[in-house]
Amino acid sequence: MIAHPESTAPLYQTLAAAVQGLIEQGSLRPGHRVPSVRRMALPRKVSIATVIQAYTTLEDRGYLEARPQSGYYVRPRLPGDTPEPRMARAMAKPSYVGVSDLTAEMIARANDPKSVALGAACPDPSLFPTQKLARLLGAAARGESLSLGRYAMNATYAPLAREISRRYLQAGTEISHDELLITIGCTEALNLSLRATTKPGDTVAIESPTYFGFLETTQALTLRAIEIPTDPRARISIEALRTALAQHDIKAVLVMPNFQNPIGSSMPDAKKQELYDLLCEHDIPAIEDDIYGELHFGDRRPSNLKSFDRDGRVLLCSSFGKTLAPGLRVGWIAPGRYFERVRRLKYTNTLGTPVVLQKTISDFLREGGYDHHLRSIRRAYQNQLQLTAQSVLRHFPAGTRISRPQGGFILWLELPASIDALRLHTEAAAHHITVAPGPLFSIKARYRNCLRLNCGLPWSDTLSQALQTLGTLAQQQLPT
Ligand SMILES: Cc1ncc(COP(=O)(O)O)c(C=O)c1O
Repeated sequence: MIAHPESTAPLYQTLAAAVQGLIEQGSLRPGHRVPSVRRMALPRKVSIATVIQAYTTLEDRGYLEARPQSGYYVRPRLPGDTPEPRMARAMAKPSYVGVSDLTAEMIARANDPKSVALGAACPDPSLFPTQKLARLLGAAARGESLSLGRYAMNATYAPLAREISRRYLQAGTEISHDELLITIGCTEALNLSLRATTKPGDTVAIESPTYFGFLETTQALTLRAIEIPTDPRARISIEALRTALAQHDIKAVLVMPNFQNPIGSSMPDAKKQELYDLLCEHDIPAIEDDIYGELHFGDRRPSNLKSFDRDGRVLLCSSFGKTLAPGLRVGWIAPGRYFERVRRLKYTNTLGTPVVLQKTISDFLREGGYDHHLRSIRRAYQNQLQLTAQSVLRHFPAGTRISRPQGGFILWLELPASIDALRLHTEAAAHHITVAPGPLFSIKARYRNCLRLNCGLPWSDTLSQALQTLGTLAQQQLPT
């Protein structure tokens, strides 16, 4: 990386071009810190101002980012012309849901140490402060030992509900602590929401593609679902939803407005308002899954659909499963006008949520450090997503479309039409690699040539090799 003595370009430009070259060749990888300004300047006998000008030029071009008091880092990026996956067509009529056995198989493999778990959306435990949580869990068990000998009749440990309420307030959503119920993960919150707003045989509208857990719950509750096309950029088609609402007796809409699983994008505020207005027009509730809401890569947490709610028709569900402690199974629901119904259903479902688990999370939040932890996992997720996307670009067949998540840790791929993701899943399993094939994200097994990749795993040679293997398996399916 030496400025060519005969170059006529200004020195800072030569330096910027050299660093850019190293980034493009992969010698300096996304998330890596580039040498400090001083360490760059001294051996090259250039001024500090020249290095700063080179680095800021690369910042403007999107190659570097400055982090306060830390230095310059390689910014994760994909070439601007990488196409994004496309939207599916609208579904004609609601249908009962039949979930593939593959879902259970994939989830079972998530914790298999012999498998590279690119299937289930499970972050690596090393990303979470498990030691500190273990200490707090022990202290909570000692401090609340009597609670171990009692039923947790009250679903909500008030100090935890206050912390959650305070965090929503900061994000622009007013939910008082006594409007919240603590659940066993977001899974229970979603289950209670569906049971509170529907009865067996009813129809709910879901995004397409959607989180397969919604399909599992919909099936378990004998509900019918209608898929509403959801574009990675424009998000749920309000037009298609309007048509579906006019044609069918839809009882609730199940949405992930922020960092949707699997497509990763968020609805702009105007879309959330439009959606809310449509719900009011048809007088139906929305179940909002906000489990990825805190995992934003931009400066601001995106708003909640709930913040537009004027009459309690939005049931907001979330958990600490993707941010702090999936194993503690602590989630929550702000059920709005359905509060009493959900409270009773919670009672019949699991009676209560263990106090010791709630207190552990509450103490973690109260002790401070949660925001710091969130900043660090957001950076880790973003970096892992970017590295995965770049690897896909390098190894997968030409024409593969890649989502551009603005938060979370999930990548959605649309492969060339001839590729069968179910076959890819089977072939990858023989190499101890799990992936989530597209048909799992649809009632009608659509998205046959799509794949969801879990990017919650820290980058490693094993991971890099697994992606290369997947790419080769996909290439082998191309017509010769
Ligand atoms: C969109 C979405 N909602 C809910 C869940 C389940 O959350 P929890 O682990 O808190 O039950 C997941 C887990 O993958 C998810 O992706």
